[in-house]
Amino acid sequence: MTASSFLPPQRTLMGPGPSDVNPRVLSAMSRPIIGHLDPVFVGMMEEMKGLLQYAFQTENALTLPVSAPGSAGMETCFVNLVEPGDKVIVCINGVFGTRMKENVERCGGTAVVVEDDWGNPVSPDKVADALKGNPDAKVLAFVHAETSTGARSDVETLCRLAREHDCLTIVDSVTGLAGSPLYVDDWGVDAIYSGTQKCLSCTPGLSPVSFSQRAVDRIQARSHKVQSWFLDLNLVMGYWGGGSKRAYHHTAPINALYALHESLVILQEEGLENSWARHCRHHDALRAGLEAMGLEFLVAEEHRLPQLNSVHVPEGVDEAAVRGELLERYGLEIGAGLGPYAGKVWRIGLMGYGANERNVLTCLSALEAVLADRGVVEPGRAMAAARAAYARMDAAGSTG
Ligand SMILES: Cc1ncc(COP(=O)(O)O)c(C=O)c1O
Repeated sequence: MTASSFLPPQRTLMGPGPSDVNPRVLSAMSRPIIGHLDPVFVGMMEEMKGLLQYAFQTENALTLPVSAPGSAGMETCFVNLVEPGDKVIVCINGVFGTRMKENVERCGGTAVVVEDDWGNPVSPDKVADALKGNPDAKVLAFVHAETSTGARSDVETLCRLAREHDCLTIVDSVTGLAGSPLYVDDWGVDAIYSGTQKCLSCTPGLSPVSFSQRAVDRIQARSHKVQSWFLDLNLVMGYWGGGSKRAYHHTAPINALYALHESLVILQEEGLENSWARHCRHHDALRAGLEAMGLEFLVAEEHRLPQLNSVHVPEGVDEAAVRGELLERYGLEIGAGLGPYAGKVWRIGLMGYGANERNVLTCLSALEAVLADRGVVEPGRAMAAARAAYARMDAAGSTG
């Protein structure tokens, strides 16, 4: 077989991630490769650490991008902080809490599960009870922004509860970072991981992480070796934490790191609060359009993530056929439901660079046309509602 160059089609990515990547980021990736121990590269890494600290709102020295996707950031937190026999309270309100439980068990820990229905946030009351009932728990783990449903949990309250019980926290903010307010230091988060392909609008494949001094102390006091060589932070720190004296650990994904650096520079230029506000603004317009079509949200308004909008599929509509048509005719990707919501909801992402008016209007007009063909919505309403929402926000002086 003679293969030729792969030329992907142009898509608008409005699923649960990856999201549309800023062209500046793609262009940064194509810059010349240099050695990963080159002093110029090391200087860029130092700068990147500062940019990540800004994104996470932390002064944690142990803040770096793991050279692998969000799942590796998750594993980095668990393999370093959970030792065999440790009890960990794991909150499950969607797919990613389930994966946290799996991680605890693979580390030889015992998971105490606090369950909430999919679409709901993690319940602080249930967590408080679990902490009281398990005074020997070492870690509380939960997801800030549950991508499988679009529910946002209250990081500040959950971390405060954990601290009251002298418990460390592991927080998944793969979909949260840069899209929703997050203050790692002020809220007392101990270990957090994210991903590059969501609200940072970078290419997939890296996982920013950050660890508090309490977490570092726990890692340094471990009685068992971290079972993963690659993710053992004691070793990774020799490369990322060594200042000008960096030791080889693994070959850094150099051009991917140029991309992340660029996306963080873009975030800094925009300002973190402005990025959060922009996600809300475009969510409000999208919501107006979706509701004008009669589509109902899965998550209650006060717990909704602006960057991940789950709406129920109208009765009698073949949801996969709609997604297929959106992709083929309009080049638009939206996401399917997962778990109990497979076949029942669509997940519409408004993440990072993709959180803009063009994407909102593209999505509404395409979805409205496809649903109008099936006789379940009346054409014209969604676009009018979204435009009216933008006009109202402009009149009220909404930025973003
Ligand atoms: C909340 C959450 N956690 C973890 C992950 C895993 O990240 P990755 O797919 O980059 O490994 C994802 C990916 O969608 C996610 O949404």
